[in-house]
Amino acid sequence: MTDDILNFSSDDRDLVSGNAFPEDQETEILSLRPEQLSEYIGQPEAVETLKIAIEAALKRDEPLDHVLLHGPPGLGKTTLAHILANEMSGNLTVTSGPALEKSGDLLGILTHLEERDVLFIDEIHRIPKMVEEFLYPAMEDFTVDIVFDKGVHARSHRYRLKRFALVGATTRVGLLSAPLRDRFGIFRSLDFYKESDLIRIAKRSASLLDIPIDDNGAAELSKRSRGTPRIVNRLLKRVRDYAQVRADGVITKATVDASLLLEGVDEKGLTGLDRRYLKTIVDFYNGGPVGIEAIAATLQEETDTLVDVVEPYLLKIGFIIRTSSGRRTSDMAYRHLGKCVQSSLFKA
Ligand code: ADE
Repeated sequence: MTDDILNFSSDDRDLVSGNAFPEDQETEILSLRPEQLSEYIGQPEAVETLKIAIEAALKRDEPLDHVLLHGPPGLGKTTLAHILANEMSGNLTVTSGPALEKSGDLLGILTHLEERDVLFIDEIHRIPKMVEEFLYPAMEDFTVDIVFDKGVHARSHRYRLKRFALVGATTRVGLLSAPLRDRFGIFRSLDFYKESDLIRIAKRSASLLDIPIDDNGAAELSKRSRGTPRIVNRLLKRVRDYAQVRADGVITKATVDASLLLEGVDEKGLTGLDRRYLKTIVDFYNGGPVGIEAIAATLQEETDTLVDVVEPYLLKIGFIIRTSSGRRTSDMAYRHLGKCVQSSLFKA
């Protein structure tokens, strides 16, 4: 029996219930998300690839190729999955790698998918190996093999699935096995957004939230949003509260400055955790190089949080450098922390 064959007794069949989250349980931030690719701001190459793939699939009356999206959190992987389902006129089912503990969890979801539906698996790099192998025939031939009962009573049944599209999202594409990666027809990496795109997103969201924002307010909000639309939208809501309660109801540079000072978000968009991360390397480890495990232990934070959430933007803006012997802070990071620059010339 191969790993991608399920083995459970006939009595367990009612356990075949998916672990998907219904769309209506998602947060309000969803309402700020674009619903069509034409409304999507930024990531022009990824958007163009997806537009072509959707149009071609619809023309041929075929399902969309499976799509793998890679990039730091908040850059639009989930939003794109919603859009793909809308554009294909299918439903979206959302789950995540860690939620799929057993093959049965995935089977329940797969057997409920309809033609043209999109299954979104977030953090797909965290899917257990057994479940991953169960996914292979589902992705390749739209089938799953189910074994009922054990030993001499074992009966195998090949179940045909509806032709769905899988959208996988990961912050760590390097952790994906080659067989899984190779089963995706489309692979796109999402990068941090340009400031001009973030400004357009801030203005679009402000208009949906019915809060006036001026050009300088939108520019300041975008500068402090770490290249990330989800952060634009989150901070926008805090700034809106501030503008309506402590100011005259309009988002300006002054309201953004005052409200984000309260939130602990500095002029580069760094949060308390970002600054504690940098200070740990500077103060405890003399600017590095230092391994991520040592930084995580000193900060008492999860290594994964630092690698997935904190480091990508600090690397992007050149505040840290990753070397074979660990992380180092740059001169820019010293200056940002208001510390005397320890020139990298004197460092190993
Ligand atoms: N809201 C969040 N992300 C967005 C994007 N990329 N385009 C438009 N609105 C958004």
